[in-house]
Amino acid sequence: VQIVACGTSYHAGLVAKYWIEGLAGMPCQVEIASEYRYRKVVTLPNTLWIAISQSGETADVLSALRHLDCEQVAATLAVCNVPTSSLVRETDLALLTEAGPEIGVASTKAFTAQLIVLICLAIVLGRQNGHLDASRVTYLYQKLVKIPGAVGKSMKLFDSIRPIAHKLKNARSCLFLGRDTLFPLACEGALKLKELSYIHAEGFASGEMKHGPIALLEDGLPIVSFVSEDEMALKVISNLKEAEARGGYIIVIGTQAAVDLIDFAAAKIVIPDCEPIFAPIVGAIPAQILAYLTALN
Ligand code: M6R
Repeated sequence: VQIVACGTSYHAGLVAKYWIEGLAGMPCQVEIASEYRYRKVVTLPNTLWIAISQSGETADVLSALRHLDCEQVAATLAVCNVPTSSLVRETDLALLTEAGPEIGVASTKAFTAQLIVLICLAIVLGRQNGHLDASRVTYLYQKLVKIPGAVGKSMKLFDSIRPIAHKLKNARSCLFLGRDTLFPLACEGALKLKELSYIHAEGFASGEMKHGPIALLEDGLPIVSFVSEDEMALKVISNLKEAEARGGYIIVIGTQAAVDLIDFAAAKIVIPDCEPIFAPIVGAIPAQILAYLTALN
């Protein structure tokens, strides 16, 4: 699978890579459209080529589509919110996100809708190629249909996020961290914060902190970390302990069980319970609210 997209849609693609490789066992590459369109790309035979775009009109994405090596591509697929868009018209297949018109510039509901479509795609690919058995698919489906409820509950997090946004409003910079599917979510949280509040923010994979970004740590630097209660939890705790020891103001976002593991955090945002695999969908909501409230401040 080759995914091409820009901005928030690119971050959705990065999450999808974990799902497509994890659930369907298929190799998946993700690339920024503005890079892909200008370079000599090597496409593996029988590639499913996916463009993710809210609008379906992003010039870099359309150019990437027109630039691909048709010989090797089995099918082109648009994951798009606008059924009449150029992208939907020019691809072989389309999965519509049906999020309704995206009114603001900052992509919010389009992102969560893209994630839902992409995890469904990963599950279907996994079932069709035999990587997932029927009982696992049923289990995932039962959990998936609970996601709208969890997202609805996340919309009630405004009061608990307000004091954290108040703290962030004077920050010069802010780091977002995560591992696994929560790494792309960290990049998306940082993008939302800079786009809405004009505060510098960067998303990193937690494990990369020690390879350079740790030099940025200073007293009071806000570090927003997405945490999960899976096998990665211990590694995240150790990354965050190092950041806290260097004066970082640690804000954690995760389920109650996950945030309880970080007893040294300065602030916690508790998201409704969900399977770790769905955490980027539910975790996106508090990240968006945090950016929104910080901008209002
Ligand atoms: O319409 P697209 O999804 O193709 O747009 C791509 C990016 O411009 C877009 O996702 C942008 O990063 C967001 N509006 C940021 O919130």
